[in-house]
Amino acid sequence: MVRIIEVGPRDGLQNERETISLSARLDLIFALAEAGLAEQEFGSFVSPKAVPQMAGTDEVAAGLPTGLTGWALVPNVKGMERALASGCRNAALFTAASEDFVQANIRMSIAESLEVFAEAAGLFRSRVPEGRLRGIVSTAFECPFVGRVDPEAAVAVAHELLELGVDEVVLADTIGTAGPSEVKRLAAAASDIPKEKLAWHFHDTRGTAVANVWTCLELGYRSFDSAAGGLGGCPFAPGAGGNLATEDLVYLLEREGFRTGVDLELLARATLPVLDLLGREPESKVQRAVLAGRS
Ligand code: COA
Ligand code: ZN
Repeated sequence: MVRIIEVGPRDGLQNERETISLSARLDLIFALAEAGLAEQEFGSFVSPKAVPQMAGTDEVAAGLPTGLTGWALVPNVKGMERALASGCRNAALFTAASEDFVQANIRMSIAESLEVFAEAAGLFRSRVPEGRLRGIVSTAFECPFVGRVDPEAAVAVAHELLELGVDEVVLADTIGTAGPSEVKRLAAAASDIPKEKLAWHFHDTRGTAVANVWTCLELGYRSFDSAAGGLGGCPFAPGAGGNLATEDLVYLLEREGFRTGVDLELLARATLPVLDLLGREPESKVQRAVLAGRS
């Protein structure tokens, strides 16, 4: 079984120019859950001035489908308070491997972000001891401002997050530039982190995401983030394209004999209302093939 964390309702929607309604966000989450995506990053508790698309995540949290493992993205203590007040049981804290990127994204240094996270994680643990925390290392391969990132630098941040008590670390190719050899180098640098404590987050900006996932699978990793319909990006990372499409990921996995628990037909249809609202065509090749009846 491979674990898929669906991030379209957050990473996907936050990068769209159009802000869609709370009910359309919830409809998407329900359709994705119906397709079998039992873990979803459903929104973020960030400043609505910084990311207007994620305003009202508090209300989305209140309306989630029963049984869903919902992850909330949280940048600071205020965000953690909002997440806890909305009943969230799972939270993802995000920093980066590059100073310039963290500064642009959450207006802190890496060290400051880790201090803030220690406080946010403490608050979380005191209120939901059974809850789970992820720590995201953005720009783990390359930063849009300063270029390539030393794998050791990314892994150092991963270790700091684990020391703060996160249950897993997510290594993110935020701008979608990495290829398989870089994945191998980063995995080698992270070899002392247990495989079940690492998840991978690829963007498909240059078409390398599926190759990178395959490399991770061969190395024994089993957790991946992806966004249905290939929605996504990051408004703070110039040039970041869409996420790895969940359809492309599910197809690869199932075709190669890994179970995902996802119904590809339902998944291919799940994003259609949102794509319609956004005035976009499906970008995932697999989604287009399934919709055309050529699956
Ligand atoms: N939720 C809602 N509002 C928040 C908030 C949160 N988690 N954190 C801060 N704010 C508000 C403050 O209350 C303050 O509001 P005011 O102007 O009405 O008084 C304002 O935001 C500024 O607060 P400050 O602490 O000075 O924050 P900042 O301007 O340094 O911005 C972040 C820091 C983290 C809040 C902001 O950069 C942010 O939300 N970034 C998120 C980016 C993102 O989502 N990236 C996704 C990954 S690509
Ligand atoms: Zn992303």
